[in-house]
Amino acid sequence: MARGLTIIVARASDGTIGHGGRLPWHLPADLRRFKALTMGKAMIMGRKTFDSLPGLLPGRRHVVLTRDTAWHRAGAEVAATPEAALALAGDDAAVIGGAEVIALFEPVATRIELTEVDGLYAGDTVMPAPGAQWREVAREAHEGFAFVSLERALA
Ligand SMILES: NC(=O)c1ccc[n+]([C@@H]2O[C@H](COP(=O)([O-])OP(=O)(O)OC[C@H]3O[C@@H](n4cnc5c(N)ncnc54)[C@H](OP(=O)(O)O)[C@@H]3O)[C@@H](O)[C@H]2O)c1
Repeated sequence: MARGLTIIVARASDGTIGHGGRLPWHLPADLRRFKALTMGKAMIMGRKTFDSLPGLLPGRRHVVLTRDTAWHRAGAEVAATPEAALALAGDDAAVIGGAEVIALFEPVATRIELTEVDGLYAGDTVMPAPGAQWREVAREAHEGFAFVSLERALA
């Protein structure tokens, strides 16, 4: 298991995390938190999430999972398998989505920084709520959303 592998994701009440290749909400406070949580780290992401970014995010490494051996982008580090992504990212990495890639790493992640977005968005990309293997350790409630930290519960 990678030490300190954190999943960072914003999820609506109906499980939506994306729609049409983008976030279906505009939450500046969440974007600020995302920046603070990821700064200086390696971010592991799916190729579709990389495509959804406005460009390279300064001060962070972009480790991109794709099965396309021809895929290359300036500034991105390419991984063909989850194992290769972990090896590239090293300790203290962040998994930033999307749903496919979160599902791949959920079994080995140690922490989830979840933004619970109130409301139903009926998006085309959904993820399940964290299961009983996750224990809430902090919650910061705001109008319309909450920042929730979860750690893997001990067996
Ligand atoms: N709310 C949030 O916090 C949040 C965070 C991130 C993203 N999003 C949203 O989520 C959506 C994208 O998520 P998504 O689930 O559709 O896609 P994704 O997880 O970002 O990317 C999926 C891609 O990753 C690659 N991949 C997946 N499994 C792989 C494996 N085992 N080995 C190698 N490559 C693998 C494949 O790329 P290739 O097709 O190139 O082979 C696959 O098409 C967008 O709408 C985005 O805005 C939301």
